Amino acid sequence: MTATLGRIKDLTTALAPRLTEIYHHLHSFPELSGQERQTAAYVAGVLSSCGLGVREAVGKTGLLAELPSRPAEARLLAIRADMDALPIQEATALAYASRIDGVMHACGHDVHTTVALGAAMVLASLGEELPGRVRFLFQPAEETAQGAGWMIADGAMVGVDAILAFHMWPALTAGQIGVRYGALTAAADDLEIWIQGESGHGARPHEAVDAIWIAAQVITTLQQAISRTQNPLRPIVLTIGKVTGGRAPNVIADQVRLQGTVRSLHPASHEALPGWIEGIVAQLCQTYGASYQFHYRRGVPSVFNDASLTQLLESAGREAWGSERVEVLAEPSLGAEDFALYLSHAPGAMARLGTGYPDRPNAPLHHPKFAVAEPAITTGVVTLAYAAWKYFQP
Ligand code: NI
Repeated sequence: MTATLGRIKDLTTALAPRLTEIYHHLHSFPELSGQERQTAAYVAGVLSSCGLGVREAVGKTGLLAELPSRPAEARLLAIRADMDALPIQEATALAYASRIDGVMHACGHDVHTTVALGAAMVLASLGEELPGRVRFLFQPAEETAQGAGWMIADGAMVGVDAILAFHMWPALTAGQIGVRYGALTAAADDLEIWIQGESGHGARPHEAVDAIWIAAQVITTLQQAISRTQNPLRPIVLTIGKVTGGRAPNVIADQVRLQGTVRSLHPASHEALPGWIEGIVAQLCQTYGASYQFHYRRGVPSVFNDASLTQLLESAGREAWGSERVEVLAEPSLGAEDFALYLSHAPGAMARLGTGYPDRPNAPLHHPKFAVAEPAITTGVVTLAYAAWKYFQP
């Protein structure tokens, strides 16, 4: 163990009661996406009292903080936490359960915030021992996938060389860390296609353009084309979940509306998907004499972890806690996470922080009984602070 790691661990142990207090406070007073005003004010107060420079009202209700007096030419590492809660009625019966009716930190963003605050306190205490700049991003509205975009629009990523974050993971026991190389979460987009044919008598197809039949071709061709033209090592799921069209059993339909969702893991697939899908729709419609309208709404892209920054988090975890507490996750999640948006501005990595109690069943994220076993907090603080220190080592 390096002397610095020992110091980070000692500082974190000394801070543990304060971190528990912060976590309980945040958990008791959750705020919904875009309304994190009290939370932001509280976080700003903690950061200022540790000597960090704080910029408030960044990304609407978010904030930025930087460690004081660093050489401007030093590399800049960002650490991101999110602050919003969910419209869920808490049912944990914890002493520090939510005091706000119908609002709950059921995704652990209160822990993300506490861990980032802890890392800020520890890194501030390291002083000159930390030869670089660290910027803390406390973003609002992750649950609605808006906050990261708001933060970026307000300059949060200007000058940032790399970005790190944690997200809670109840499938791992508290004290464990999960890392994943490549895709961690999926890109999730919405799709809507209108196919316009020409109505006619059900007995006289040669005088009409059957929009239902063309829609059926579109659906079938898209599913087959995924398996025959797309790289099978870069998974894509295209689901048409709603089909609307037709007027009567004996009338050929003039119009069909297809609505669906498109999930993908690789950034290159995500980039190419709208053009590829529209190409198939256009070709089929042209062949059979229909016209179409194509609407594609991009959600957040995939969180695609940078290999060397994933390695940084993995090695920081292994050195701090031993290899048995760091798991390399075999599978990504098909959930979405707006951390992905920062990654188009700088390389980054998000790791999983175990929250599970070792001795009882654990509720999943976004569940009214979701609860965090508290060793997660010190595990996160030490790992993040040590990873930050290691980032600046030559
Ligand atoms: Ni979350």
